[in-house]
Amino acid sequence: APLNATLVVEADKPGPRIDPNIYGQFVEHLGRGVHEGIWVGEGSPIPNVRGIRSDVVAALKRIKVPVIRWPGGCFAELYHWRDGIGPRDQRPRGVNAAWGDEPETNGFGSHEFMDLLEQIGAKAFLSVNLASGSTAEAQTWLHYLTDPATSGAGAERARNGHAAPYAVPYIGIGNENWGCGGNMTADYYADQYRQYLSVLRPFGTLIATDANADDYAWTETLLKRALYRHSRSTPLAWINKQPQLAMMSLHFYTFAGDDWDTKSPAVGFNETEWARSLLRTQKMDELITRHTAIMDRYDPARQVGLAVSEWGTWWSADPKRPSNLYQANTLRDAVIAGLTLNIFQDHADRVRMANLAQMANVLQALILTRGAQMIVTPTYHVFDLYQGHQGAKRVPVSVSAPGYRVDDVDLPSLSVSASLGEGGRLTLSIVNLRANDDIRIGIDLRGVAARTAQGRTVTAAAMDAHPDFDTPDALHPRPLAGLALQPQRLEVTVPAKSVNVIEINP
Ligand code: AHR
Repeated sequence: APLNATLVVEADKPGPRIDPNIYGQFVEHLGRGVHEGIWVGEGSPIPNVRGIRSDVVAALKRIKVPVIRWPGGCFAELYHWRDGIGPRDQRPRGVNAAWGDEPETNGFGSHEFMDLLEQIGAKAFLSVNLASGSTAEAQTWLHYLTDPATSGAGAERARNGHAAPYAVPYIGIGNENWGCGGNMTADYYADQYRQYLSVLRPFGTLIATDANADDYAWTETLLKRALYRHSRSTPLAWINKQPQLAMMSLHFYTFAGDDWDTKSPAVGFNETEWARSLLRTQKMDELITRHTAIMDRYDPARQVGLAVSEWGTWWSADPKRPSNLYQANTLRDAVIAGLTLNIFQDHADRVRMANLAQMANVLQALILTRGAQMIVTPTYHVFDLYQGHQGAKRVPVSVSAPGYRVDDVDLPSLSVSASLGEGGRLTLSIVNLRANDDIRIGIDLRGVAARTAQGRTVTAAAMDAHPDFDTPDALHPRPLAGLALQPQRLEVTVPAKSVNVIEINP
């Protein structure tokens, strides 16, 4: 018999808007993330538009990918943008020193990235280079991309095929500057940020780099030293309260435990590893809460957003090619995606962007390719199901359900998030974390007069069920059967280990 749970959804209390950018993506020159995953070149037998593969663009367009961060990651800190412009046959060949010295053709550079965005309908998040670059290099890059064709920089861009200026709404100042991005202390980075700010401020929204998981001291130092303009005579005295950073970012990965030594295989894991992975995922809530508490002290009006600019699962690497970070994507990844997106939605007042690591062929990818073949992953299906939340207003939900214990791991059985969208559409995303138990849920719908309800579910019999190139539809979303709707009440049974989204309309 299924377990029982109850929910109260207060649709009469709409809260903050869920920024569509939290369903954003991250693309890095790493393994087959760019080369093959996106870029095949104009001469390729794989169908493409100006070298960008059409099957991938169609899949990403369908789920309304809002924003893409590029060119890395650690790669960004070694990237020199001039290598990636001009005639492709004259671009320098290089090696990807960030990721296993693999060959880098530079065939996919700034114009190709902007073309990808245009084809998908997504916005640019450009990550500039601090470790091996300079303010001058970042400045000339932004001039090149955004100046009118009547300027010298814009004329060079026009000669390279694009007269109209590109839009670069988001500029990331470095990547993991405490690590691969220059091995900096927080104080040193904050001062670097101030210098980049003085040069790049006119070009777009600046995002300060990436607190590492629970490094709260990084956030504290960054905000103390860089959030506001300081007086020249007393460098740490604020002279006004206009924030100088639009967002600060956070990076956090999921393993089957609490550190990098507890990676589990992507397939073939047991229920303990399942539960430990979900517990680690739940930590995102604590991280956001605690970083937000620090932000609240410096920025009580909540003008500054949090961008979780890298998140996702990181399973054991293929020992034969450890630097390509390709991994299978299973039902566990789907459940982790659902849990994480629910957490972002619940923190919509601060979390204004997030970027899944990574979009294609790397870590928790949406898309996997094998030559000309492409499959979408269970994680992709979750992003598809969650589209109804994009731009909607979060509404409060309270959950009453038994806990879920596996060995020494205590988890909730359910994670639920709800939002109110256009025309009074209520979207409910419900994740059942339990590996073996269906849950019957009675939902009290306050403030709606529901007339129709439809649900879809991503689930399977095995925890590590996954699509493959020969069985591509293994986890395709199915209708959620047996919804019993009254105007202010819904009853539904969610299957064991599943991600479910229900849309209720007046
Ligand atoms: O996403 C893979 C790598 O993880 C990125 O290059 C780096 O920023 C992070 O450590």
